Amino acid sequence: MYNEYDNEKFFEEYGKMARSRGGLSAAGEWHLLKPLFPPLEGKTVLDLGCGYGWHCAYAVEQGAEKVLGLDLSRKMIEEAERRNPDDKIRYRVCGMEDYEYPESAWDCAVSNLALHYIENLDGVFKKVYKTLKPGGVFIFNIEHPVFTSGVGQDWAYDDDGRPKYWPVDDYFKPGERVTHFLGCEVIKQHHTLTQILMGLLNSGFELKAVREVEPPEEMMDIPGMRDELRRPMMLLVKAVKR
Ligand SMILES: C[S@@+](CC[C@H](N)C(=O)[O-])C[C@H]1O[C@@H](n2cnc3c(N)ncnc32)[C@H](O)[C@@H]1O
Repeated sequence: MYNEYDNEKFFEEYGKMARSRGGLSAAGEWHLLKPLFPPLEGKTVLDLGCGYGWHCAYAVEQGAEKVLGLDLSRKMIEEAERRNPDDKIRYRVCGMEDYEYPESAWDCAVSNLALHYIENLDGVFKKVYKTLKPGGVFIFNIEHPVFTSGVGQDWAYDDDGRPKYWPVDDYFKPGERVTHFLGCEVIKQHHTLTQILMGLLNSGFELKAVREVEPPEEMMDIPGMRDELRRPMMLLVKAVKR
């Protein structure tokens, strides 16, 4: 299966991002994602697209008993094992489409910035629903449909090279988008807001929270960060298995 994170150049550039160097506290969504977690003392947690394993380590810090981090990229899993090892965490190279999703096995499933790589989102929602225990919580952060819809995922610029506006185009045409991210061509999948939210409801989930991320005030001095207030980039959702 295609995954840019195993491409040497992309992997290296990803490692230079603030979130890669600084972990959760350097991630623009963490102030909104963190409060969505349920109490994790003694719980089991599944992380879909775990990357370096930051959320797996957080779950253990919060008292989780058993954590499984899945990622399609061997390089990312190796990095997770190096940066965030723990006896209670198991990391595994596995596409989230291919995991076996044992029935009623997990108390909490989390996925941060990985679901916009998934074509069949409904399929993953149904599998996550199956694998959660009754009352289990699914928290995710997906690139916002306003962010993923247009061509190339970039601003339209004025003559001086300043961002003029964010183009939203082909919104109602879900599917593949070829984007330019960290100097590489990266394929992502656009899903409309209706597809995301109705996909959850149709899978049986009860929606508990929906958040569109605005960066925190203390990050506003980072170059380009103020532009992040001009359009949503990330959509956070908390859903519960009834
Ligand atoms: C932006 S990174 C986020 C990593 C981590 N969740 C975090 O927040 O630090 C996206 C991750 O999704 C992984 N990924 C992409 N497609 C995937 C798939 N089909 N199954 C599992 N992981 C996938 C990538 O390899 C990458 O590690």
